[in-house]
Amino acid sequence: MCVETADWRGMCWCAVLLLIMGVSESGEPPWPCPQCCECSPENLMVNCSSNNLTSVPDNINAKTHHLNLANNLLKTLRHRQFSTLSQLQELDLSENILSTIEVEAFHGLQNLLTLRLSQNRLKILPVGAFSGLPSLHLLDISENEILIFLDYTFREMTSLRKLEASENDLLFISKRAFSGLLNLRELSLDRSNLTSVPSEALSQLTGLSCLRLCLAELTILPNNSFRRLGRLRELTVSNCPLLGSLATNSLIGLNLTSLTLTYCNLSSVPYVPLQHLVYLCYLDLSYNPIISIHPNLLGDLLRLQEFHLVGGSLLRVEPGAFHGLVYIRLLNMSSNQLVTLEETAFHSVGTLEVLRLDNNPLICDCRLLWVWRHHLHLDFDKKPPICNLPVHVQGRMIQDFTQVQLPGLFTCRQARILNRKPQEVRTDEGHTVQFFCQVDGDPTPSIIWLSPHRTLLSTTGRIRVLSNGTLEVRYSQVQDSGYYHCFASNAAGNDSISVSLQVRGFPASSPRNRSIHFFMEGWSFTSTQSPVNDSQGLRPFPFDMKTLIIAVTMGFLSFLSSVAVCFVFMFFWSQSKGQIKHTATIDFVPHSAGAGPARGGSGTDNNRLTMKLL
Ligand SMILES: *[C@@H]1O[C@H](CO)[C@@H](O)[C@H](O)[C@H]1NC(C)=O
Ligand SMILES: *[C@@H]1O[C@H](CO)[C@@H](O)[C@H](O)[C@H]1NC(C)=O
Ligand SMILES: *[C@@H]1O[C@H](CO)[C@@H](O)[C@H](O)[C@H]1NC(C)=O
Ligand SMILES: *[C@@H]1O[C@H](CO)[C@@H](O)[C@H](O)[C@H]1NC(C)=O
Ligand SMILES: *[C@@H]1O[C@H](CO)[C@@H](O)[C@H](O)[C@H]1NC(C)=O
Ligand SMILES: *[C@@H]1O[C@H](CO)[C@@H](O)[C@H](O)[C@H]1NC(C)=O
Ligand SMILES: *[C@@H]1O[C@H](CO)[C@@H](O)[C@H](O)[C@H]1NC(C)=O
Ligand SMILES: *[C@@H]1O[C@H](CO)[C@@H](O)[C@H](O)[C@H]1NC(C)=O
Ligand SMILES: *[C@@H]1O[C@H](CO)[C@@H](O)[C@H](O)[C@H]1NC(C)=O
Ligand SMILES: *[C@@H]1O[C@H](CO)[C@@H](O)[C@H](O)[C@H]1NC(C)=O
Ligand SMILES: *[C@@H]1O[C@H](CO)[C@@H](O)[C@H](O)[C@H]1NC(C)=O
Repeated sequence: MCVETADWRGMCWCAVLLLIMGVSESGEPPWPCPQCCECSPENLMVNCSSNNLTSVPDNINAKTHHLNLANNLLKTLRHRQFSTLSQLQELDLSENILSTIEVEAFHGLQNLLTLRLSQNRLKILPVGAFSGLPSLHLLDISENEILIFLDYTFREMTSLRKLEASENDLLFISKRAFSGLLNLRELSLDRSNLTSVPSEALSQLTGLSCLRLCLAELTILPNNSFRRLGRLRELTVSNCPLLGSLATNSLIGLNLTSLTLTYCNLSSVPYVPLQHLVYLCYLDLSYNPIISIHPNLLGDLLRLQEFHLVGGSLLRVEPGAFHGLVYIRLLNMSSNQLVTLEETAFHSVGTLEVLRLDNNPLICDCRLLWVWRHHLHLDFDKKPPICNLPVHVQGRMIQDFTQVQLPGLFTCRQARILNRKPQEVRTDEGHTVQFFCQVDGDPTPSIIWLSPHRTLLSTTGRIRVLSNGTLEVRYSQVQDSGYYHCFASNAAGNDSISVSLQVRGFPASSPRNRSIHFFMEGWSFTSTQSPVNDSQGLRPFPFDMKTLIIAVTMGFLSFLSSVAVCFVFMFFWSQSKGQIKHTATIDFVPHSAGAGPARGGSGTDNNRLTMKLL
């Protein structure tokens, strides 16, 4: 009885089951759904995410288009694991603990378009793991622990357009790793540990248009880093704390419209490497320790529309910095050390639409008046520029001042040269002369001095400009004579003076006398880069005398050099013989100059020289 009852019950369940199946058969085609998964026949979708699954369920409908296995505990994908799912278009395996993908794991998925494998524990992708995926468009293998891409890993993925491989521990990409990716448009290698640019591997990707990479260990971007990537339009190099510069030809071969070089160690704008990028519209150099933008060096980027340099160390944007950039419409210079941004930096501020100058220690004087004048047309991106100085307007937004308040605000004091009494100096050759150029103005004027030949004088050399604006002519020479000009200028205006210098040569001076004179100066004056031409063409020594003598007396020079030294002294001795007593006495111990070469040739042990100048 008991058995019969059981049989009866079993038959009953069977009938119920048949009834259910019959019902479903009479309606839609059957859609078996794996336990714990959500199936949506109308979308051809099976959603098995977040189920602690340790293996891929095996009763998945062959007609499924979308299969979600994300956030489970899958560890391994076996050989031909999905071979029955030939209709599958999207497969999500992210957030599992996958560490092994066997060869041909995805074989048979000839219609698969998207494959997500991010946030797993993959360390290596065996060659052939991705074979049999001829239609795949997107492959996401980001946030794994992949160390290396081997040759031919992606060989059969001829349709792949986007490869997302950021946040891996990638150290190396083999030369032919990307071989076969003929249609790849986008490649992301962000936050990897690459030690060098995988130039060879990248050169296979001739269709690439967008590349993101991170070069954690590189100090300089080498020449020809991206050769054969002529279709590349967007390049992002980011998070490279050691990258201090770009080699001259590092970006050669590229025709970019967008370039991002952020979070690196660039201390200046890479003007020369960028020069040929005439189609560039977007340039982002944010978070680099760049101090200034120099004049007239970005002009080749004639189509540039957006320039970002946020969070740098910018102290100055020189007048003319954006000269030639006739389409610039966005400038983002938030969080720098700028005290001002002059209108003269731009080609024309009329094109500017968006300006970010917030978080800079701005001085609200005449140089920033243009910002106030244009504030109705400018978008400050909700972060308007704020005055830091002068004190009485500290903390106020430039746009908040009214026309009525304006007089007395945003003012400058024109550059003025203070002591204007004539400076005319007559002196004898060899004397040191100073000319003064004291200035006043707000902002502090810059001072330049021009020589009689209208060349700019620098802060080094025999004729130099001191830090207080004074011009110093040391060891004056006849050819230094003439009028020198001091120019002082600031944003509010300029001022200039001329001073005159007349240097008298020695009476009845002859080339020989001059020669000796110059020779003597050589003891105290060792600058080899005199900015003024030596009109007499007198170049007494090809090297520094002081060094030479020290070297000789210390016994560093051996036989050969002592011969050379002897020759040099021989030369001068013979040149200045007769007149030498008028200016100098040269005592030459132990060998007499005349016997120099012969004795040197005999190679005596005593090769020390002592020289006295009286
Ligand atoms: C799949 O299921 C998960 C959890 O059950 C849910 O969060 C997710 O939105 C579902 N996905 C789709 C496409 O329905
Ligand atoms: C998966 O496992 C975790 C921890 O073992 C548990 O808290 C969670 O409820 C499980 N989820 C499901 C859907 O069983
Ligand atoms: C990659 O770099 C990250 C962060 O810099 C580091 O934690 C990780 O250990 C590196 N991996 C390898 C394999 O060097
Ligand atoms: C890059 O190429 C330029 C021009 O050929 C050369 O002058 C420069 O030294 C090279 N730089 C490096 C780092 O190789
Ligand atoms: C960045 O460059 C500067 C020199 O420009 C150098 O002193 C500094 O050490 C570099 N920083 C790093 C992290 O390499
Ligand atoms: C460079 O790119 C621009 C814009 O994408 C394109 O119009 C131009 O033809 C390209 N020039 C070359 C030489 O490829
Ligand atoms: C300027 O840069 C900051 C910081 O990167 C960013 O948040 C902001 O959106 C940028 N503004 C514009 C207008 O690009
Ligand atoms: C400028 O400095 C130099 C040297 O430091 C000094 O000799 C000269 O008197 C100074 N000039 C003025 C105007 O202070
Ligand atoms: C100096 O100022 C005058 C007008 O005051 C101006 O014409 C001239 O161009 C300025 N020169 C320089 C070098 O700024
Ligand atoms: C050299 O200069 C002195 C004055 O310093 C002069 O007396 C002498 O005649 C000059 N010698 C020659 C050859 O010109
Ligand atoms: C310097 O001398 C050379 C040769 O004597 C001459 O060609 C050149 O023009 C001179 N330069 C100046 C600035 O006088």
